[in-house]
Amino acid sequence: MTSQTPRPRIILDCDPGLDDAVAIALAVRHADTVGITTVGGNVGLEHTTANALALCDILGVPDLPVHAGHDLPLSGSLEHRATEYHGRYGTGSVRLAEPSRPPASEDAVGWIIETVRAEEGIALVATGPLTNIALAFQKAPDIIEKFSQISWMGGSSNGGNTTPGAEFNSWVDPEAAAMVFGAGHPNLVMVGLNVTHTVLLDRPWIDDLRRRIQGTATEVFADLLDYYEIRQREMTTLAGAAVHDALAVIHVTHPRLLAGTRRPVEVVLSNGPARGMTLVDLRPMRNPTPANATVIEWADASVIQDLIGQALTVPGADL
Ligand code: BDR
Ligand code: CA
Repeated sequence: MTSQTPRPRIILDCDPGLDDAVAIALAVRHADTVGITTVGGNVGLEHTTANALALCDILGVPDLPVHAGHDLPLSGSLEHRATEYHGRYGTGSVRLAEPSRPPASEDAVGWIIETVRAEEGIALVATGPLTNIALAFQKAPDIIEKFSQISWMGGSSNGGNTTPGAEFNSWVDPEAAAMVFGAGHPNLVMVGLNVTHTVLLDRPWIDDLRRRIQGTATEVFADLLDYYEIRQREMTTLAGAAVHDALAVIHVTHPRLLAGTRRPVEVVLSNGPARGMTLVDLRPMRNPTPANATVIEWADASVIQDLIGQALTVPGADL
């Protein structure tokens, strides 16, 4: 049994996406997920929304509300998506079955505002570009303080993946990220590449998962992760698949498995090679600039690997 806080209530804003799919599985297994909101990122909104709905069917939660949000970043344009890692539809080489229902609404921003005004203390987990979240904060600044925490997979304190400086989610919508970092939430957490690159699902892990989930309702996850692992190994020097987004959920459901330090973080908005970079102030100053986020620096890789494996293998099981 891995130590776990009482099941937190969360809203998951995501762009599934292969690692987002794992994040959804963890959110379903280990949190009281109030709803899922979708954003365009890895692939277009049409696909991220259909994928979120289809994954809810696969995970046995066909009634979990899914609200579609914004497709494009605040700037209005996007050079490219992340189909090289996630496949044309965001699900690798697999086409998931048609979802059993349409999205609950196409107004994720309005739904987030309404939900958080009605119930304080929900944790927000965001695993895509922060477009929906920034728009919700802009429209209804009163909701910011109502979240118990904001756990975002994005950014990095030691270099990017989309450009040398910028991580993908931050690169897609730097203006949104800057708004969220500037919002003043006391418990904003950045789960960036500097830590997500330390938790890898390698080939033996994926093969073992396939053996264990064959013939179960979740067996498609073996194909999803298979593709993801192959693409990451082909395109990077990582020794396996970095399931980035899973860690943002785990930070909320199993907080002892990650640790970090309060730091000042600035998102670079200027055009040029550093656009979208999260500039983390690591200087050991006696009078530091005030911190605006907890930057996660450590993760318990082997326990997290087990947690992911079990969440995908035993529907409904709690560790
Ligand atoms: C992030 O970018 C996306 O491709 C992943 O889903 C993850 O959220 C990693 O940089
Ligand atoms: Ca994502």
